[in-house]
Amino acid sequence: MTTILGIETSCDETAAAVVIDGKTATSNVIASQIDLHAKYGGVFPEVASRAHAEAISTVVEQALTDARVTYDDIDIIAVTRGPGLVGSLLVGINFAKGLALATDKPLLGINHIEGHVYSLWLTDPYREPVFPVLILIVSGGHTELLLMRDHGDYERLGGTIDDAAGEAFDKVGRLLSLPFPGGPNIEKAAQYGNPDAFSFPRAKTDEAYDFSFSGLKTAVMREATVLPSAAARASEPGADKHKLRAEVSIADVAASFQKAAVGALVEKTAKAAKAFGATEIFIAGGVSANSALRQAMRAETELPVRCPPLNLCTDNAAMIAAAAYYRWEAGLRTALDFDALATWHLNRATYDGL
Ligand code: KG4
Ligand code: ZN
Repeated sequence: MTTILGIETSCDETAAAVVIDGKTATSNVIASQIDLHAKYGGVFPEVASRAHAEAISTVVEQALTDARVTYDDIDIIAVTRGPGLVGSLLVGINFAKGLALATDKPLLGINHIEGHVYSLWLTDPYREPVFPVLILIVSGGHTELLLMRDHGDYERLGGTIDDAAGEAFDKVGRLLSLPFPGGPNIEKAAQYGNPDAFSFPRAKTDEAYDFSFSGLKTAVMREATVLPSAAARASEPGADKHKLRAEVSIADVAASFQKAAVGALVEKTAKAAKAFGATEIFIAGGVSANSALRQAMRAETELPVRCPPLNLCTDNAAMIAAAAYYRWEAGLRTALDFDALATWHLNRATYDGL
């Protein structure tokens, strides 16, 4: 039995978890900074690293307590090495290094995207996938389409060339004056809207499996600027308020944006799965919490589609510990003097090289 303590501080969640054999999370503590960043409408890097530094030791202690273990029971420590905000990453890395030295345990530096991949092993521990598997990682910082041929064997087929999918949700949320983070709030607003009210464009990209969301965001911006002026007209004497209110429905813009964003993700993912003979599709990362995305993906393909439960979609440390287990089993080790990697694409070469 291998017990791994995972630590994650790459963005705005300070997280720690204990995972047994890469499959069972016996604790999963997440201290979210959402409230701190909400007033800026996005993640403020300096505020994030300071909040990580304040929270980390309590969060790690809590993860051990929840799992009913002490440091003596931990075999390996795993920490997110990148990609992410460098100041935030360093808080977790330095804390983990100190812990590894003090307790004389091995330390592994883990790729955050690979962590999201392994959230799926925590989801269905007893249903081993048959490789190759097509994986779509969609989060606030990343949109990556990966072909996974085996543990540690990834081919990056494509990704976003501008905004990440979650970033587009967050920016559109801000345009519509919805609270931060935009993703879950757009999903809520969209429930009351008509997804066909606006026909937003789906971007064309040079590479078959790349994504682009900035054009979509601009198109929404054009509609969103109409909202206040139409709202003003609605207050004029004699205005047909019902008509104008329908015209300016935020729910309609949210639903139409969501349809366009989800449509682009689903179309390319299903196409890649077919082209590369994948047996299953995995979707992970914060945006995979979106039920319209899950439904649309299942409608688009006959392949099984797996998504993690909501608490494993967004950033957490259980996924980091799970990824570390498979690296450890493969005999991969990290020297203790590793640095943060703010940018780090997941592909076979990086996995082999570290
Ligand atoms: O994986 P994650 O916690 O952090 C990163 O690694 O970036 O993802 C956070 C992102 C945010 O952009 C948030 O708006 C988005 O995931 N998100 C959603 C939903 N829940 C979270 N986007 C769309 N629909 C949701 N239900
Ligand atoms: Zn993430």
